Amino acid sequence: MTTIDVPASRNYQVIVGKGLLSQTGSRILPFCKGNTAAIVSDETVWGLYGGTLEASLKAAGLTVIHYTFPAGEASKNGENYLKILNFLAENKLTRSDALVALGGGVTGDLTGFVAATYLRGIAYVQIPTSLLSMVDSSVGGKTAIDLSAGKNLAGAFYQPSLVLCDMDALSTLPQEIFRDGCGEIIKYGVLYDKVLFDKLLAEGFSFDREAVIARCVELKRNVVAEDEFDTGARQKLNLGHTIGHGIEAQSHFTISHGEAVATGMAIVARAGEKAGITSGDTVDAIHEILEKFGFPLTTGYSAQQLFTSALSDKKRSGGTVNLVVPREIGDCILLPTPVGQLQSFIEAGLA
Ligand code: GLY
Repeated sequence: MTTIDVPASRNYQVIVGKGLLSQTGSRILPFCKGNTAAIVSDETVWGLYGGTLEASLKAAGLTVIHYTFPAGEASKNGENYLKILNFLAENKLTRSDALVALGGGVTGDLTGFVAATYLRGIAYVQIPTSLLSMVDSSVGGKTAIDLSAGKNLAGAFYQPSLVLCDMDALSTLPQEIFRDGCGEIIKYGVLYDKVLFDKLLAEGFSFDREAVIARCVELKRNVVAEDEFDTGARQKLNLGHTIGHGIEAQSHFTISHGEAVATGMAIVARAGEKAGITSGDTVDAIHEILEKFGFPLTTGYSAQQLFTSALSDKKRSGGTVNLVVPREIGDCILLPTPVGQLQSFIEAGLA
């Protein structure tokens, strides 16, 4: 078991290990003085793990209520958000009670935004059940819902009180969803850690899950400690995302986030090589690792299609998009790119 301390506007611990779900009750007590825990989960995850979590909370003497919604990104909307707020109000939750987000990124983002706004803020605990949410969305306090104009357009920075990454939850994760999370793990290697990158390249899918997840959480902790509110260093976590979001959007989300980001990394690395930023060895290494994990190295969408989607990227600031470009494995830069040059940059990476 590994415990990682996150220093932020609220300090908290991320615990990575086995058997954590059934220990939630005792671990949550310091954050739930009011005695009621409200679990939010999707119907699939609730069916798998709701019983164990509920039993653990009850064994610790807590009153437990739960709210479930249909699994999938479509549930991360304003209607569901208001329904959860009303559910909490009808059940008279107070500021000394706590929410528990049990599930993947959709559940964590939605519950976090409810927690940030219910009674102007209530404690919440993240129990991520997908690889992607363990290494990314459950840590760092980005909470959000989608609007009809785009993903994550309403939200708040609001840190959890505790994050429990239970390795046992990964046992029911379908292989393609596990692979999706691997795209984000590879991203951490390219951004910050050549040792991690080389380990993933050597071991492929058989990497030591607990050790690798704990390392990714440590890397994310370092970023959040430096730039909680995403004004600088945290933007590097966007590696592969500007182009990746374009691929996802153009495919009407039939291409998964992790796969799109992985392909986005390859495109930005090739464009970076043509711009004299990325070494040829780095491009080769990125190609090799993506092939090992079965990710496509390019996309059939045109530079113009990807450019159009990139314009709605949240990282755009005025007439500039901050692209993240690798120099070497473990060393990436933020490259402010004028919108007028973005399409030709993407074009260079497609070839
Ligand atoms: N998912 C990127 C971030 O937390 O900043």
